[in-house]
Amino acid sequence: EEVSLKNTYKDDFYIGAALSASQIEEKEAKTDSLITKEFNSITAENIMKSMYIHPSKDKYDFTLSDKFVAYGEKNKMFIHGHTLIWHSQLAPWMQQIKDSTEMKAFMKDHISTIVSKYKGRINSWDVVNEALNEDGTLRKSIFLDVLGENYLADAFKLAEKADPKVQLYYNDYNIEEPAKREGAITLIKKIKAAGAKVDGVGIQAHWKLDRPSLEVIEESILAYSALGLKVAFTELDITVLPNPWDLRGADVNQNFEGNAKMNPYAEKIPDSIQIKLADRYASIFKLFLKHKDKISRVTFWGVDDKQSWLNDWPIKGRTNYPLLFDAKMQPKKAYFSVVNLKQTK
Ligand code: G3I
Repeated sequence: EEVSLKNTYKDDFYIGAALSASQIEEKEAKTDSLITKEFNSITAENIMKSMYIHPSKDKYDFTLSDKFVAYGEKNKMFIHGHTLIWHSQLAPWMQQIKDSTEMKAFMKDHISTIVSKYKGRINSWDVVNEALNEDGTLRKSIFLDVLGENYLADAFKLAEKADPKVQLYYNDYNIEEPAKREGAITLIKKIKAAGAKVDGVGIQAHWKLDRPSLEVIEESILAYSALGLKVAFTELDITVLPNPWDLRGADVNQNFEGNAKMNPYAEKIPDSIQIKLADRYASIFKLFLKHKDKISRVTFWGVDDKQSWLNDWPIKGRTNYPLLFDAKMQPKKAYFSVVNLKQTK
């Protein structure tokens, strides 16, 4: 059998990738064969977000999402929908909604239309994305402002009604960290207590070389699965660059431009970092394997380093190396550490 990520982990969990608009729209043979060889699940990185799929009140644009779903079906992939209710990447018309009747009507139309459109074809949805602050309290957003916290359970109820069989996830970042994890657990319990179904939790996993610790990740897998939830790692990548806020030092203006430390490996990533990245991925996947019965899916936030959103975060022009394939789509040391983990066990 061909060596690939998806074959290596086929008895354990799905291995996914987030696809960019161009990877969906105009897939070249090279990209296409890498995606189908390595991954058995896909997420749309951007095109199903509100501003793209629902640009004005009475207009939906399913051009790219239709292609995305058809591609997943053609390749018999597990198709994940990202995302129904999120405070970011909203269309301008949505940002103007001020009144609760109007907001409820928006949520009902938006969720019912999109979920029923792909009923039985999309396998799971991020129903609500990033509703929490770092301390575990509810994040201030247009939804919370206008509707109060009931919007959360309502969103899950609407999604279930539109497709009773589709798996419903709450998705967020840093929810492996204890305070935010407690917030997520409280939130999910409340949603369930209100009579809504939640099948799983999506831990985004935008991680660093040294954080979060394996202990914190493991505690989270156990805590969420103890609630009866499936655990998915939904947006995995590992930055190899310094956190700009750690570098800020005396620069209270947060002016990162021209700070050479911001982009230390612009020309080429050193071997020492390649090795650190490979070791970090290996220890993470070793932990995932230990808990494979609790984990439904591990999705990388992009196919290769060139695509990664981290190249332009938090300022334009950073060159990051967070994934398993380099900018030329060649497998990195980290790729081999992840596929060799099971062979050499
Ligand atoms: O499509 C426009 C293009 O027409 C325009 O010329 C260009 C100029 O900036 O922008 C393009 O849109 C960009 C879009 O990605 C598509 O490439 C937006 O500016 C850019 O903000 C947007 O970034 C996305 C980001 O979400 C938005 O918040 C990233 O690609 C995407 O990877 C990122 O993904 C999020 C998850 O959805 C939720 N979790 C965190 C994760 C990382 O931030």
